[in-house]
Amino acid sequence: MTGAVFSEEWKRTLYCAEPREEHAGRRAVLNGWLRARRDLGGIIFIELWDHTGVVQIVFNPEIIPEAHARAKDLRSEYVLAVRGTIRVRPEGTENTELDTGNVELLAEDFMLLSPSKLPPFDPDDADRVNEELRMKYRYIDLRRGDMQRNLRIRHRIAKLTRDYFDKNGFLEVETPILTKSTPEGARDYLVPSRVNPGDFFALPQSPQLFKQILMISGCDRYIQIAKCFRDEDLRADRQPEFTQIDVEMSFITEEDIIGLIEPFIAGVFKEMTGDEIPVPMPRLTWKEAIERFGSDKPDMRVEMEITDVTEVFAGGENPFSSVVGEGGVVKGLLVPGGGSLSRKEITELEARAIELGSAGMANFQVRDGSLRGPLVKFLSGDAQSMLVKLSGLTSDGIFFIMADRSWTRACETLGQIRLEIARDRGLVGGGWKFLWVTEFPLFEWDDESKRWSPVHHPFTAPMNEDIDRLKSDPGRVRSRAYDLVLNGVELGGGSIRIHDPQMQSLVFDALNISPELARERFGFLLDALSFGTPPHGGVAFGLDRLVMMICGAKSIREVIAFPKNQKAQCPMTDAPSSVEKSQTEQLYILSTAPERDGSQ
Ligand code: AMO
Repeated sequence: MTGAVFSEEWKRTLYCAEPREEHAGRRAVLNGWLRARRDLGGIIFIELWDHTGVVQIVFNPEIIPEAHARAKDLRSEYVLAVRGTIRVRPEGTENTELDTGNVELLAEDFMLLSPSKLPPFDPDDADRVNEELRMKYRYIDLRRGDMQRNLRIRHRIAKLTRDYFDKNGFLEVETPILTKSTPEGARDYLVPSRVNPGDFFALPQSPQLFKQILMISGCDRYIQIAKCFRDEDLRADRQPEFTQIDVEMSFITEEDIIGLIEPFIAGVFKEMTGDEIPVPMPRLTWKEAIERFGSDKPDMRVEMEITDVTEVFAGGENPFSSVVGEGGVVKGLLVPGGGSLSRKEITELEARAIELGSAGMANFQVRDGSLRGPLVKFLSGDAQSMLVKLSGLTSDGIFFIMADRSWTRACETLGQIRLEIARDRGLVGGGWKFLWVTEFPLFEWDDESKRWSPVHHPFTAPMNEDIDRLKSDPGRVRSRAYDLVLNGVELGGGSIRIHDPQMQSLVFDALNISPELARERFGFLLDALSFGTPPHGGVAFGLDRLVMMICGAKSIREVIAFPKNQKAQCPMTDAPSSVEKSQTEQLYILSTAPERDGSQ
């Protein structure tokens, strides 16, 4: 039956999802995969699938006895070419779930092009199948409408991106994959060099340094849909290998970047979803974002905001007075309708706050017109009124509070609680809520290494107003960085860069990167900076994240044709895998990994 030669006469004349009532009476050839087969009273019905959709095909033993007999052997995922006549389905047998549900192909003959082993899962049921299995048999997983749609959306967004930037005078330039480590804060993937014994390339965590050098090269406007590699812990929106829409421009300020990106993003959403995205998009400084929402990527679909109630607990005798006396803060979160939370739910939330790093979480409620809660007895009448006024607490709500010596920890813990409560209680609104977060700190203190590290990367320019503090108070220097956040997901980020080698040295000093180390790691950039550097800046968007949001997918793995699993492995190819000893010898590499048994 197999080994069939695919000849001209068996080439499709329509895609599977194309037949409609207007084609009735027309002869057609369809090519595709057998999806479902039913034998009813001697008649065989199959659904034939291709990337456009499915159509029903009928094999009637009275009309085509020989082909019908052969059709009995057809199984799921067999590849067929079927010839027949399109007809309107008999009344009452229409399938409203299919685009082709009013018609069917009455088969005259068919050709089996390729059989299939029993598939490990039915593609139509893939949503219920373990993801690891889907990844192992990715070609079967991709053989379904949802995944094909995701691939098409990704393709369209990449195309819209190239068209938009091309129209605006950008040049797509490819940058190397075998390169030197770039400091984006993750571990590198390394590639040993056979011809340079003991030396390694790093795969780029982003094209950051190359795009800056392209500006120094006079390229003016650069775009690349670029592969990036980061060896970091994986999450739903993180892959070890991902794709950025990477942009850089010369002789510009932040407003030029934002002014270019907003119509781009709004255009992509309009084209792909039909939704109108208001521009200019709202902006918040990092400080405000943390203060009000407890996150540097706030989900603005959630209305709840964090309130500062430090002054309620200042002075007086209460369990928080010492924290407040030492410069700490008391932050609160009003949950509308939270008055209905059970004792058990409240205890669980308190435990969650402790798990997130807080010392504890207390609450207030209003019952029978008076304030209730474990801390009420410590508060004067005035303090109680102040708390009710600041929080806006009414009889249907609950107001959670926590005290902390660290402003960031108090805000971020409550910020996380805000998100979890919103998700559990259906308080997440709809729509696309975009937000620029600006004025990030330039540095953050790393307790482990006991030194400052860059919040973005070390080439981010400080805000002019804060340059004086670079030496005296690095923690209070703000950067010219900006992130674009959508519904609580960081879609992209960028900054105006340092274009002055002296300023770059000052920043390296603050980061405790010695001139020798700076030279060893980024000497080529420092050299380039000293040969005439235009003021420049840029931004990079996670293409996978953008596509994930537009597809409404839960994870970026759904919008990557061949993703890695949570252990950074590819279950289909089995990469990474061991290699021949002779290969590692050629690379001068000796493994210290524990021996594995030969079956692995
Ligand atoms: P950043 O590190 O913020 O900036 O990355 C930019 C965007 O890339 C996406 N992204 C990821 N997507 C999937 N998996 C990952 N592991 C992953 N890591 C990052 C995010 C993020 O917002 N060179 C700078 C940009 C610049 O300054 O111009 C950079 O790479 O959507």
